Amino acid sequence: MDVIFFGPPGAGKGTQAKILQQRFGLRQVSTGDLLREHRRREDEIGRRAQAYLDRGLLVPDDVIIDIVRAEIDRGDDLLFDGFPRTRAQAEALTGLLQERGKGLPLLVVFNLDKEEVFRRLMGRWTNPRTGRVYHDIYDPPPPNKIDVDGTPLVRRADDQPETIQTRYDVYRNEAEELLDYYRRSLGDNIVEVDARSPVDVVSGKIAGKFSAPPRSLRQ
Ligand code: AP5
Repeated sequence: MDVIFFGPPGAGKGTQAKILQQRFGLRQVSTGDLLREHRRREDEIGRRAQAYLDRGLLVPDDVIIDIVRAEIDRGDDLLFDGFPRTRAQAEALTGLLQERGKGLPLLVVFNLDKEEVFRRLMGRWTNPRTGRVYHDIYDPPPPNKIDVDGTPLVRRADDQPETIQTRYDVYRNEAEELLDYYRRSLGDNIVEVDARSPVDVVSGKIAGKFSAPPRSLRQ
């Protein structure tokens, strides 16, 4: 079964993806991580995405859908982290899964208030090599900000108040339309989690949904 993580910035999608991909044999597809990798390589996708990433705006759908199509074609059951984010992306994903004869995905909706979004992102430290994240209060990093593998931890460039506000607004603007679409097409294959709960409680709630058998896709 493929899984979609949807929620505001900082809700813990990446944290949960790292835990659950191992437990359920899924491959994480984080469009944010993939875009940052293209930007690091300074290739054509990276150059196109740069201005959007810097400002916290959505990268155009056609760029994102091309990236995701290539990931789907590599096979495996996938855990989409941060995709889809617009109704157009959701419709494209439905088409791609149907063409490949896949069952309905499970949608996990992370709910988190704006104040906590800011608290999460203003305290986040990331290991750019492994993707492991820490938090100043909730999961403190080593005091010297060097991770166990020797990699210096960094703050993400878009974890600045103004950009966080933009990312949060963008999320709110798209959320209702996307959720409307999925409520109609996924039926019971949706689980909502209170993302304020401790990490293991959130993982347990999501894992509990995995026993449900996949149904065939409906439009
Ligand atoms: P992306 O990288 O996807 O960022 P995001 O959605 O804003 O989400 P984050 O990665 O910031 O947060 P998260 O939910 O993974 O939280 P985390 O687990 O790290 O996207 C970045 C940009 O790329 C976008 O702005 C856009 O420009 C572009 N983009 C990406 N996808 C796109 C798409 N589909 N279409 C168009 N553009 C796209 O946790 C956060 C912190 O909280 C950490 O410090 C962690 O330790 C802590 N934490 C986690 N869980 C808990 C918990 N339960 N309790 C306490 N602390 C916790």
